[in-house]
Amino acid sequence: MTKLTFGALVALAMTAAASSAMAQDVAAGKTSFNKCLACHAIGEGAKNKVGPELNGLDGRKSGTAPDYNYSEANKNSGITWNEAQFKEYIKDPKAKIPGTKMAFAGIKNETEINNLWAYVSQFDKDGKIKQ
Ligand code: HEC
Repeated sequence: MTKLTFGALVALAMTAAASSAMAQDVAAGKTSFNKCLACHAIGEGAKNKVGPELNGLDGRKSGTAPDYNYSEANKNSGITWNEAQFKEYIKDPKAKIPGTKMAFAGIKNETEINNLWAYVSQFDKDGKIKQ
């Protein structure tokens, strides 16, 4: 009985630790997204700005945000955005898509990139947080 209770407590503590670590990642990713905000919107009601809105990015084909005027390079890149593609791109956008008009040097810090993906990938195509 005592053993069982202790086990349950450990399990609870571990769950709490795991979920708070995830929350931190998303919060840090949101802060990091401030670097993108001048050109990109995300979330409910997001509109194209200098760059396309980024809702539903996980699984979205490059160059397909409605009514956004992409460069040929971006449109023809053949990329379907997912975690691996995004992480490679955001390190050095011009290396991943030569000729892109995204004027952004990139983010080199792996932790920041992980947090950024945690934040960006949580939005579905309507800008709602996925459950
Ligand atoms: C100075 C403006 C600017 C900044 C800052 C910027 N972007 Fe972009 N981004 C663009 C433009 C413009 C495009 C369209 C590129 C093209 O058509 O060649 C783009 C394209 C993209 C795409 C491809 C979208 C698609 O539909 O294929 C992704 C993903 C992206 N940006 C993510 C980011 C993230 C994440 C950040 C912040 C870390 C960021 N961008 C910062 C301007 C910017």
